[in-house]
Amino acid sequence: MWTCTFFGVRDVVVITAVGLTLAAMVDGACAQEFPPDAVKGKAVYERHCLACHGAGGHGDGPDAARLTVPPANFHRFKSFLKSDEELLRTIEHGVVFSPMHAWQGQLTETERQDALAYIRLLVQQGK
Ligand code: HEC
Repeated sequence: MWTCTFFGVRDVVVITAVGLTLAAMVDGACAQEFPPDAVKGKAVYERHCLACHGAGGHGDGPDAARLTVPPANFHRFKSFLKSDEELLRTIEHGVVFSPMHAWQGQLTETERQDALAYIRLLVQQGK
């Protein structure tokens, strides 16, 4: 009877240990993709987006004045309230009849997510 209980406890410990190891492995695998990296995103943004959207994301980049459709000001509630999915879709496919073209093919999914993370950071910092 005592032995039985002893094994029962040990089994639980072993199962828990395996569970924790698995959880740690799953965590490790995810860490490569998430969370998006705003530091890498800054480089992507400065290279590809800043000319239109501006250094602070206010839609006032050096090229903005020449555009008939003004670039989005990410600080506006209109953009701020949109979900990440919605904005990522815009970055991926672009906006029809506007200078905002699709970035799919030019930027990887990770780069697009990183750029969005940087945009969110800009807005959060209120710059
Ligand atoms: C040639 C100028 C230009 C460049 C370069 C550009 N954009 Fe845009 N972007 C625009 C314009 C114009 C709009 C707004 C279209 C509209 O008002 O419907 C826009 C809209 C957006 C939106 C949607 C905002 C919203 O509220 O729906 C996102 C997100 C965005 N751009 C991200 C990016 C990212 C990320 C990059 C760089 C990878 C980038 N843009 C590069 C011109 C540009």
